[in-house]
Amino acid sequence: MAFFTLRLAGDDTVEMIDQRKLPEEIIYVKLKNYGEVQGAIKDMIVRGAPAIGVSAAFGLYLGAKSLSDSGEAKDYKTFKDKFFKICDFMFSARPTAVNLGWAVDRIKRLVEKSAGSSIPSLVAGIKKEAVLIYDEDIEINKKMGAYGAALLKDGFTVLTHCNAGALATAGYGTALGVIRAAVESHKKISVISDETRPFLQGARLTTWELMEDHIPVTLIADNSAGLLMRKGMINAVIVGADRIASNGDVANKIGTYQVAVLAKENNIPFYVAAPLSTLDIKLKSGDEIPIEEREAGEIKEVFGKKIAPVNARALNFAFDVTPNKYVSAIITEKGVLYPPYKKSIAELFGK
Ligand code: MRU
Repeated sequence: MAFFTLRLAGDDTVEMIDQRKLPEEIIYVKLKNYGEVQGAIKDMIVRGAPAIGVSAAFGLYLGAKSLSDSGEAKDYKTFKDKFFKICDFMFSARPTAVNLGWAVDRIKRLVEKSAGSSIPSLVAGIKKEAVLIYDEDIEINKKMGAYGAALLKDGFTVLTHCNAGALATAGYGTALGVIRAAVESHKKISVISDETRPFLQGARLTTWELMEDHIPVTLIADNSAGLLMRKGMINAVIVGADRIASNGDVANKIGTYQVAVLAKENNIPFYVAAPLSTLDIKLKSGDEIPIEEREAGEIKEVFGKKIAPVNARALNFAFDVTPNKYVSAIITEKGVLYPPYKKSIAELFGK
């Protein structure tokens, strides 16, 4: 893979590929402080649940470093008070992907555990933890890939929605990681990618990413999936997730729900690939998942060109929830979960 999604460059810079510009331009932005990282998550320079979590962790490291470099925090208590405010700010960037809160909480726990430590050792500890979150993410995706690949047969055509690939993670991907692993095990797999209005993650990102890896991919308009399923052109659906409740309800990119319903109607398995950090076992069901609503302009314009009357009322929910009854299996780094999810998820978490 010739590109990277994000990385910590040296001691003071987070570099990310600007996903708003792909595939037209391959530009890496250099972010020098936590505010810029928070802005990059909010503005979707970086997107995808695991990639948002890793970005937040790197951003918090920059925040911790600035508290130390500026001399604003001279003792543990002041550091913790100021740093936790930065954590809240980072957390506020986007609401649906639980990986963001998961990464923020993991770093906060580290600070709690290090009570009384010197500022330099706190900063060094936060940096180490952020780099670990990054490294683990790639490792986890490869494990998920290995488990999930077994579900895809040689010759399968697989539909995916949004981008749950290397671009949505530190690398390799969740749903696309499963596809990559199947291809690496010498199975012939073709991908159908939904365009994924309005941000066009499927058209702009999934097709580009798979083409970079020479994995056959065909782009379709979001409203074509039903026809292709009825024609027998799709053998399985695989998507990522932004948050999964303890009963297996899955929040993912808007449009996922309708794909899942169509898949069930057409007897096509609907798989979700997600790391444990995407499972929010505090939540009883998907009804409790906060759904991000983005500004209407995103659906009334395409690349700055108006496609609707300026004053048209518009609703722009960025995610939807697929009820567990439509989910054939959830692929995690610890193995594949099957219904009833309340039981299989509880068992996974030792409950
Ligand atoms: O709005 P986005 O692009 O951040 O939404 C991303 C998705 O919905 C992905 O499918 C999900 O985060 C899984 S990524 C491995």
